[in-house]
Amino acid sequence: MKVTVIGTGYVGLVTGACLSEMGNHVVCLDVDPAKIKILNDGGIPIHEPGLLEVVRRNVAAGRLEFTTDIERSVAHGTIQFIAVGTPPDEDGSADLQYVTAAARNIGRSMTDFKVIVDKSTVPVGTGDKVRAAVADELAKRGLPEMEFAVCSNPEFLKEGAAVADFMRPDRVVVGAEDERAILLMRALYQPFVRNRDRLFIMDVKSAEFTKYAANAMLATRISFMNELSRLAEKVGADIELVRVGIGSDPRIGTHFLYAGAGYGGSCFPKDVKALAMTSAEMGIPSKMLKAVEEVNEEQKMVLVDKVVARYGEDLSGKTFAMWGLAFKPNTDDMREAPSRVIIGELLKRGAKVQAYDPVSAAEAQRVMTGWDGLSYADGQKQALEGADALLIVTEWKEFRTPDFEAIRDSLQDKIVFDGRNLYEPELIRSFGLTYLSIGR
Ligand code: NAD
Ligand code: UDX
Repeated sequence: MKVTVIGTGYVGLVTGACLSEMGNHVVCLDVDPAKIKILNDGGIPIHEPGLLEVVRRNVAAGRLEFTTDIERSVAHGTIQFIAVGTPPDEDGSADLQYVTAAARNIGRSMTDFKVIVDKSTVPVGTGDKVRAAVADELAKRGLPEMEFAVCSNPEFLKEGAAVADFMRPDRVVVGAEDERAILLMRALYQPFVRNRDRLFIMDVKSAEFTKYAANAMLATRISFMNELSRLAEKVGADIELVRVGIGSDPRIGTHFLYAGAGYGGSCFPKDVKALAMTSAEMGIPSKMLKAVEEVNEEQKMVLVDKVVARYGEDLSGKTFAMWGLAFKPNTDDMREAPSRVIIGELLKRGAKVQAYDPVSAAEAQRVMTGWDGLSYADGQKQALEGADALLIVTEWKEFRTPDFEAIRDSLQDKIVFDGRNLYEPELIRSFGLTYLSIGR
């Protein structure tokens, strides 16, 4: 099939690449010429395991193209995915300006039937807004009769595992009410789900809502575990044992129960806020979502609180090594990364930070430009040099079994503050290190 993907970010690029892998001819459009240049030069603008190979293979096969040419991209696909950003507005609600702009571009130049698919995470009712924007552009062109359908197809991929998630999804949700659109969307996704039970066709509003409900549910689990971890610490229990103890109940399940330094990323924080805004606008403000957010904001301070409890408010003269900057492993994404809050708080109190992350240093430098006292190291050991204590903020695999002796010998104060509970407390203490982790 002929598919156009509008927006070539984390979601759009993965969607385009994976759809081309199944034999579709995909044109990816972006308004950012720098991104399109990187892609047309044979690279990818993000760090995402396995993605470069899929992109290269399908570009070579002539099934995947990248362009900034709007007219060409609109002309190409019968199915037009909108996968542009929906960042939070000042009040926390989703900013739909990019979605609307993409919809208007379609309406401005389409010449035949199109299935327009919202893949961006958008509030309930956005499908109607997209329909109105396209219809308005068609009316301006004197083509009010031209047919099109609007669907919702929220994306559930996780960064760092995006290709695998897209190729073998737990489920595909399609909100569609037009028969032709349903047929086309079924055909498009059939190879990915094979087992039909995993393709859920529903009305557009329910599909839009499903995405927010999923992220809000997951964020709630994390905040609840984070709150429990604080209590566990006070009463002398170990949250890691509690996690195993409760996770084995299939009604609870083992996934997404890890207490840590708070959730970040481009989705949970903004989607929890946006759903909270919708609930307030509808006159039933969510108490749960407010609490989920508050707990998360506090959780990003937990490592800082432990540092302050140890050293006092004045951290001048202290240097902290930091392992991990990205909001989670296997990505270079720094959006809403807890490391940003933690570094800011340490610097504010006069400390210096020597940070190391396997892939996100360049992105970190971009988002924390001019932060005095923050420097970047080329490796774990370099970050430790001359430091008083180590903070672990992202659970990259390479931090899981480190050289504990080197940590001990490098650190002045021989303290490890672990925001991701990577180590057995007894083991790390046996190396002569003081170990402060989360909820234990
Ligand atoms: P992103 O910021 O990485 O990419 C968005 C891209 O859209 C940018 O490259 C931008 O230049 C481009 N763009 C903006 N306006 C455009 C236009 N009019 N025409 C063409 N291109 C345009 O965003 P993302 O992380 O890929 O997220 C996209 C959407 O998917 C958001 O709604 C997000 O909530 C949702 N989502 C993201 C993830 C994730 O893990 N990142 C997962 C699921 C859903
Ligand atoms: C999330 C959703 O999982 C995905 O379905 C959706 O499409 C986009 O948003 P992503 O933001 O890529 O994906 O990362 P995810 O793996 O969900 O982690 C989000 C944050 O939660 C990270 O900061 C992570 O460290 C944190 N987290 C996750 C925990 O603190 N504990 C956990 O048990 C799991």
